[in-house]
Amino acid sequence: MNHDHDDLGTNVSTNTHIDSVIRERLSNPGRRALLRSGAGIAAVGFLGGMVGCSSDDPVAAAPVTAAPSSVAPPVAAALGFTPVAKSVADSLVLASGYSAMVMLRLGDPIAAGVAAFRNDGTDPAASFAQRIGDHHDGMYFFPLGADGRYSATATDRGLLATNHEAITPAFLHAAGQTIVGGARTVPDEVLKEYYVHGVSIVELNKSGGSWTYRQDSGLNRRIHTLTPITLSGPAARTPLMITKYSKDGSATRGTVNNCASGYTPWGTYLTCEENWAGYFRRTTATDNPKRTPKELASFARYGVAGAGRELWATVTPDTADDLYGRWNAEVRGTSTDGSDDYRNAPNTFGWNVEIDPYAATSTPKKRTAMGRFAHEGAWPAKAVAGKPVVFYMGCDSRNEYIYKYVSTRPWDPADATGGMAAGDKYLDDGKLYAAKFNADGTGTWVELSIGVGSVNSAYAPYPFATQAEVLVNVRHAADAVGATKMDRPEWGAVDPATGAVYMTLTNSSATLRSVAATDAANPRHYNDARTTGTAQRGNPNGHIIRWQESSPEAASFRWDIYLFGARAGANAANVNLSGLTAENDFSSPDGAWFGANGILWIQTDDGAYTDVTNCMLLAALPGVRGDGTIRNVTNTDAAGATKTVTTYVGAAPGTARLRRFLVGPKDCEITGITETPDGKTLFVNVQHPGEDTPVADIGDPTKWTSHWPGGGSSRPRSALLVITRDNGDVIGT
Ligand code: FEO
Ligand code: CA
Ligand code: CA
Repeated sequence: MNHDHDDLGTNVSTNTHIDSVIRERLSNPGRRALLRSGAGIAAVGFLGGMVGCSSDDPVAAAPVTAAPSSVAPPVAAALGFTPVAKSVADSLVLASGYSAMVMLRLGDPIAAGVAAFRNDGTDPAASFAQRIGDHHDGMYFFPLGADGRYSATATDRGLLATNHEAITPAFLHAAGQTIVGGARTVPDEVLKEYYVHGVSIVELNKSGGSWTYRQDSGLNRRIHTLTPITLSGPAARTPLMITKYSKDGSATRGTVNNCASGYTPWGTYLTCEENWAGYFRRTTATDNPKRTPKELASFARYGVAGAGRELWATVTPDTADDLYGRWNAEVRGTSTDGSDDYRNAPNTFGWNVEIDPYAATSTPKKRTAMGRFAHEGAWPAKAVAGKPVVFYMGCDSRNEYIYKYVSTRPWDPADATGGMAAGDKYLDDGKLYAAKFNADGTGTWVELSIGVGSVNSAYAPYPFATQAEVLVNVRHAADAVGATKMDRPEWGAVDPATGAVYMTLTNSSATLRSVAATDAANPRHYNDARTTGTAQRGNPNGHIIRWQESSPEAASFRWDIYLFGARAGANAANVNLSGLTAENDFSSPDGAWFGANGILWIQTDDGAYTDVTNCMLLAALPGVRGDGTIRNVTNTDAAGATKTVTTYVGAAPGTARLRRFLVGPKDCEITGITETPDGKTLFVNVQHPGEDTPVADIGDPTKWTSHWPGGGSSRPRSALLVITRDNGDVIGT
């Protein structure tokens, strides 16, 4: 069973692709003349001066090929390590002069008295409520002062909040999941799976230059699929949220598929629910006739249909508190409002969840004002006193959108340690926007509010009646306003020096990024020359888009493409547009993080380049938006159809500005990254080593694809890498 469901595409909207915008512009004779001259392509400001940029937006007015004068130069120093080679070995390859400790492995105990992990599938299910979960993903280091509260400068003590996105069932249980006749028949297996999803919060301490975690810390905590969570913001306590668990729609139980993460300027953690839809069971043949057209439109757009990813709803008999039936999203009761079943339960997932890591007994809150979609993560712009608090977000599925949240209330630095109360203030009241990337290098944030533009009751695919409906069905709202379909938005990172936002677009397929559908912001369709297996067409290597706003709350921006993933040997004219070499070539960017020293760290979750290398971590020096050139990219599909797309390519980095720092073990994804405030300890997660081992081979360790990190014949485990420099200095420079 393939458990990486990141690529499920459910966007069937007919939004205009950027190429038709180009055609529209080219129909203007003056513009055609400019292009015919040839100067049009190479000219500074190609088409850029032809659109109505707001004159009070210095960034929007800047030419595409020149660095905007309003932006300070980046502060990152030179990269200071020798790049590592690509590797397919089942081991960690790390730059010379650095060391990595493996810590917080799946199953490690995080409470006093919990036994060491046996790692053979026999550890008691209940014990997992106090063990590290599986599939480590996004994380954040919360510095811990002597008073047990936030301290901006603590570098040797902290709380590490880590997401646990999903599971590798083959290794979690003695011999994989027990499934008989399409049903889970061992409740303890399901209970274990409930616990290993979610979030771990663990106290770390550095002493004598070495890090340890404190097993008995009172601040250690697990949040999982059984943890009570408050629904907060405009969609809470509405009819859409009513379940048997919470008849007033004020709460839900647990969080699931916690992918990337975020942090707030007030010292809390955001864990973001990505591929939650697949966990619900809904048999369409019998349930569809019981649902309203709007419910069906919502299910279709979010992909709520099928048997349920881990078959959790199939355990019988159910418990008194519906431990299994809560994952059945069908109409099973007789009520008209859903208060006697879980028909509305999918509406209580797909949110950003705020957690106060410093308050071990606090109740997390799902922040509905930030919208419901396949949240990858949420990344704040730098908080500025008197200005709104802004978060950038991506919906990670092919052809989905990039979003921005802007708080109603301006930032008050007095809230810097405000915890959940500050979250109530900034995250329950704000506006959501979706990104439109125009062919001329400009972009627009389009508001998603009831009654604004086409977000209203006249929108036929989903006639919106309330703002709660907009927030629960944000994908429909973004369709309605014509947002730009992207090649799977993953992590974002805000350059502290320039405020530019970098967002990885991990990859897309031949079907969903066909040659005809390529556009300026998603400009490539090619045949990735895999040496084994079948051809991979579409945009299997992904790219990183970058945009610059005049200020984070601005309604417009200018963008370019910072970096294109590619094999070093790929065609330089149409595929390897960033000129990658053996020292820095990569595929499928996912994680992105700006270190304290200005380095942009890039992590990969790749299934394309795995014939040549395992997933990796690269260090990059950012540039500025518009530091490269305008390029024409000619795409060709398997049938020979071609299309040329004009796009904006960031300056080729060369090895000086991009190099490989680390390569992970077999079948892993390198994801999740954070650091201590001094930049001297880097935390990096290794997710699902050995994931591709067939469950049929579980009895024969010699057939497993990975034994990392334990080696020998041990079962592979997701784990944390704690990376330090041997000379004790800052990482990377
Ligand atoms: Fe869970 Fe989008 O990676
Ligand atoms: Ca990811
Ligand atoms: Ca991923």
